This record gives sequence, structure tokens and C-alpha cells, in this order.
Amino acid sequence: MEKEITINFELIPNYAQLSDIEKTLFDKAKIAREQAYAPYSNFLVGCAILLENGEIVTGSNQENAAYPSGLCAERTTIFWTSANYPDVKIKKMLVIGAPKNAANSPAIPPCGACRQSILEYEAKQKEAIEIYFASPSGEVVKTKSIRDLLPFSFDGTFL
Ligand code: THU
Repeated sequence: MEKEITINFELIPNYAQLSDIEKTLFDKAKIAREQAYAPYSNFLVGCAILLENGEIVTGSNQENAAYPSGLCAERTTIFWTSANYPDVKIKKMLVIGAPKNAANSPAIPPCGACRQSILEYEAKQKEAIEIYFASPSGEVVKTKSIRDLLPFSFDGTFL
């Protein structure tokens, strides 16, 4: 029997069409991206997380000479957030990733490992996290939940 899973996303073609809070997240993720430590890949990623208390947490990818010891921007940011605000819900996460000197780069989605990590916190807080991924030039893709980026997901309910 063939079945189908539908995922939903919104394409926001440019920065001007973002809401004020979305613009703030975009601006902060862009600044965070410029602070990424990525001397090996030269692929810079910035992330901004909006908490339910209105605070915004930012982070970037952190690489290492022993390559697997580095960490993506999304996990750097969400782990720090959970460590420091364990009981504060996460409302939105906006990610901007692109090669350092790319003139034209599309909106690039979070990697699979980051999706899995984000899912864990969505399950923990029992409330969806809106995920945005954007190009530095302002093209933005928005989903209402990490589940749209990870439709066949593994979570703690299976354990
Ligand atoms: N990277 C991220 O920060 N987030 C992703 O979702 C994909 C990849 C980082 C990891 C590494 O520092 C560089 O981008 C190239 O893979």
C-alpha cells in the first residue's frame, strides 16, 4: 500500500515581508553568522532563537581541527539555550547558512542531526517550534514545526 506524508512550508521571498520580530531574528542570526568559527569549511552558519519570555539567544557553528569535534550552529545554540533556560519555551529558531564568500546562496536547511536535536526540545516543551532557514540575502523558508523538516521522526515515545 502506497502512502503519502504531506509537509507544509511557507516561502517568504524577501526580508521586507518578514514581521518585525522575524526581522530582528534574521538580523541577529546574520550577525551571529559573521562570528562563526569555521576555518576548515568556510561555511558560516548563524542561528537566533526566540524564547517565550522575549529573550533572543544566538550562536554559530564551531569547528575543530579534529573535524567531528566541531558543532553546527543550531545545536550550539539550542544546547546552550536548554542549559541556561531549561524551563523557558522556545518559540522560533531562524538559521542563516552560506559559504563565506558566496555571492548568491539559497536558503539552506538544517542538517539531519540538527533536526533530530531540535525535535527533542520540541517534544520536551510539548509545543511546536517555528523553524526558519534563510539566505543571507533575505529569502526565507518557514515551517510551523520541526516535524515538517523531519516527517518520519524518531522520538522518546518509541523507547
Ligand atoms: N553546519 C551548521 O552549522 N548547520 C547545519 O545545519 C549544516 C552544517 C556547519 C557545520 C560545519 O561547521 C559547516 O557548516 C560545514 O558543514
